[in-house]
Amino acid sequence: MTADGIGKQTVRDISIQGERVLLRADLNVPLEDGAVADDTRIRESLPTIQYLVAGGASVLVCSHLGRPKGERHPDLSLAPVGERLAELLGQPVAFAEDCIGAPAVDAAQSLGAGDVALLENLRFHPEEEANDRVFAAVLGTLATVYVNDAFGAAHRAHASTVGVANLLPGVAGLLLEKEVRYLGSLVADPPRPFAAIVGGAKVSTKIAAIDHLLPKLDRLLVGGGMANTFLKAKGVDVGASLVEDDLLDMARDILARADAAGVTVSLPEDAVVAAKLSPDAEADTVPIDAFPPDRMILDVGPATLTSFEAALADSAAVVWNGPLGVFEIEQFASGSFGLARALAELDATTVVGGGETAAVVARSGLAERFTHVSTGGGASLEMLEGRELPGVAALLDA
Ligand code: 3PG
Repeated sequence: MTADGIGKQTVRDISIQGERVLLRADLNVPLEDGAVADDTRIRESLPTIQYLVAGGASVLVCSHLGRPKGERHPDLSLAPVGERLAELLGQPVAFAEDCIGAPAVDAAQSLGAGDVALLENLRFHPEEEANDRVFAAVLGTLATVYVNDAFGAAHRAHASTVGVANLLPGVAGLLLEKEVRYLGSLVADPPRPFAAIVGGAKVSTKIAAIDHLLPKLDRLLVGGGMANTFLKAKGVDVGASLVEDDLLDMARDILARADAAGVTVSLPEDAVVAAKLSPDAEADTVPIDAFPPDRMILDVGPATLTSFEAALADSAAVVWNGPLGVFEIEQFASGSFGLARALAELDATTVVGGGETAAVVARSGLAERFTHVSTGGGASLEMLEGRELPGVAALLDA
């Protein structure tokens, strides 16, 4: 790490003893049969909760879950999340059946120092996503201090991420701080050589991130469906592969700017192809310059992986956003998992965007070997685009 401040006050900068803290966490986790199916986000929220508990604060946690669109959906209740949180914390977590009104007030007033309660899903109220002033004010009356640790929701300007921060003194939690440090400060002033691997289906969703990263990069590696547009822009026939034809000029422009800035660009040299995107499709590996016309690219091939590994070898920092192939289907997953293994071996600062890329790393079982795996999908991409997230902007300046 070369830059460590995030420009915002954190829980470490304020006195918390005896305070009642409204803690916005991102506990938006997948549920299966009414139970938590992946508790990563709950685990990642623990350090801040434990810090507040140990410091003698009472902690009122709030979060959204799913997209209930302002209506009460019992299957999107945070109750099972509260149970898992209690298990992980090793202490009781009271549950309030609503995030405002009598249940919330009772929960808040019953908290002693070091106690924790969880409020019901904020998005059961349409006022949350509308960033309604009155709703935010009502949330604000529940506490004396506001802590935002919900990195995954910090790109949303909602009542619990922005509105309430205008009413209570608001500071960053430890997870939010870590995320902004790695996806913001590190990228702004990276150790060199600095490499970015960008993948995923569409180049259109990654242009802003590439634009922001390009001036700071030494190497740009492109994989996934989006690489097809770059390959076609260079005159390669990619058969029936997904291509964004309206972005061919944009791809040429990125390649030209990379060239002018001395950024080495690596594109696929071979590919795993099939006639259809299906688990029962017959997959072949072909060199990129001998492409069968009726096939589509669904993963990078082994030669590409070898060349990517060589391009990354002496990097000091690497940021990875977007899988290299359709990793959900076994025969198109080798590129993404191979890259995860290669990065895990690297003696470098390795930062992984949330969402699909984090899912690849989690499934590889190697998450511990990365410097930072983001808990935010949309939020991490916006950080890589150089945007200030509204949920971060609203916090007190350092
Ligand atoms: C996420 O899962 O990316 C965050 O929790 C944000 O959820 P949202 O996209 O529904 O706002």
